[in-house]
Amino acid sequence: MTNRIPLIAGNWKMNLDHQQAIALVQKLAWSLKDAAHDFSTAEVAVFPPFTDLRTVQTLIDADKFEIRIGAQDLSRFDSGAYTGEISGAFLKKLDVRYVLVGHSERRQFHDEDDVTVQAKTAAAFKHSLVPIICVGETLEQLESEGQAAVPVRQTLAALAGHANLGEFVIAYEPVWAIGTGKVASPEEAAAVCSKIREAIANEHSQEVAAAARILYGGSVKAANVAGFLRSPEVDGVLVGGASLDADEFSGIARFQKHIGV
Ligand code: PGA
Repeated sequence: MTNRIPLIAGNWKMNLDHQQAIALVQKLAWSLKDAAHDFSTAEVAVFPPFTDLRTVQTLIDADKFEIRIGAQDLSRFDSGAYTGEISGAFLKKLDVRYVLVGHSERRQFHDEDDVTVQAKTAAAFKHSLVPIICVGETLEQLESEGQAAVPVRQTLAALAGHANLGEFVIAYEPVWAIGTGKVASPEEAAAVCSKIREAIANEHSQEVAAAARILYGGSVKAANVAGFLRSPEVDGVLVGGASLDADEFSGIARFQKHIGV
């Protein structure tokens, strides 16, 4: 048994404007309330686009919802002449707790490499945000380098060179499983999460490794979530498409009902 509280994170990507965000968060909160969801046994966080954050913050604050707020990215810089960038300091002011770093779509479409991801991880620590460092391999990399090689390498690169490691989360998302409907098997996901934790323990310490939550992501749905979270190696899920449907995402958050915990 571990004392890591599972994290159910919903990455909306570039979907839902601020008005649609209100509807979704309200529906999600009511659905969880109806089901008497206990947030101390599974934390729930939404990751809306930047333009929705203030609205979502205001709603959560006014209605005292226990849902946490995450952002999808942050700048490696604090402030200044970086047109289009968003500082971690601004996110912190909006009660943002988590921030995705190095999502595979950022790596693919914005050329973010391990150096950028390390710098953004540092920026998250600096602004007291919890980075969710996304790692994962393409199908070609899986074939050429084998299971876990790329995610382990990306994890260690993101965590290298920080004077002090703050709280962080790793999300293992095989690129071939994102938005494709193809999922890793629960056994594959657990094996990779376990190798990531082992590598963190070797490179940093047992304590750091034991405290880190390691999530699985890639085509997670209410119907398959229990398989992943049955393993003690997997501490939650990062959900894309299925987080845009309040009932479906609420079903994912209530995974414990399916596994009888
Ligand atoms: P998906 O996306 O659940 O739609 O596969 C996951 C992600 O990209 O975080």
